[in-house]
Amino acid sequence: MSQTKTEIYQETAKEIAAVLDGERNLTARMVTMICLLHQAFEDYFWTGFYLVDPEKPEELVIGPYQGTLGCLRIPFGKGVCGAAAASGETVIVEDVHAFPGHIACDARSESEIVVPVFRPDGTLFAVLDVDSTRLAAFDETDKTHLEAITQRLFSAA
Ligand code: SME
Repeated sequence: MSQTKTEIYQETAKEIAAVLDGERNLTARMVTMICLLHQAFEDYFWTGFYLVDPEKPEELVIGPYQGTLGCLRIPFGKGVCGAAAASGETVIVEDVHAFPGHIACDARSESEIVVPVFRPDGTLFAVLDVDSTRLAAFDETDKTHLEAITQRLFSAA
């Protein structure tokens, strides 16, 4: 019997926590999180972080990802990633082609979810961007689990 989305997230969250136990290096934590999330779901086509550029605080710069070539920089307010960064809220897009200003890094992408990631002091650190080749692949279940998983980026033992 195939697993539900919730079961896959629960299992993946446990795996991420186990692999990252005691690891404090942020790059190691981001790369591992992306790898395990990307492998967990067949329809995760592009999975990665865009980081707030410390030199240009209103701009995102590409971080660790898996998938085809992503664009290097996204200004706040542009595309789905820029919208999530500007609002500080998760954005779910059922059909990226209908989203005004969507940045098409790869035409195969059909839907996406972008989750803001905050430092412990509450400032925005990055956004997690997951793209799917399937329309309307993401819903509140993805939002709940991806928000919980990414907020653990800074909680190394
Ligand atoms: N789709 C994103 C751009 C990044 S890529 O898809 C990797 C957006 O509009 O924010």
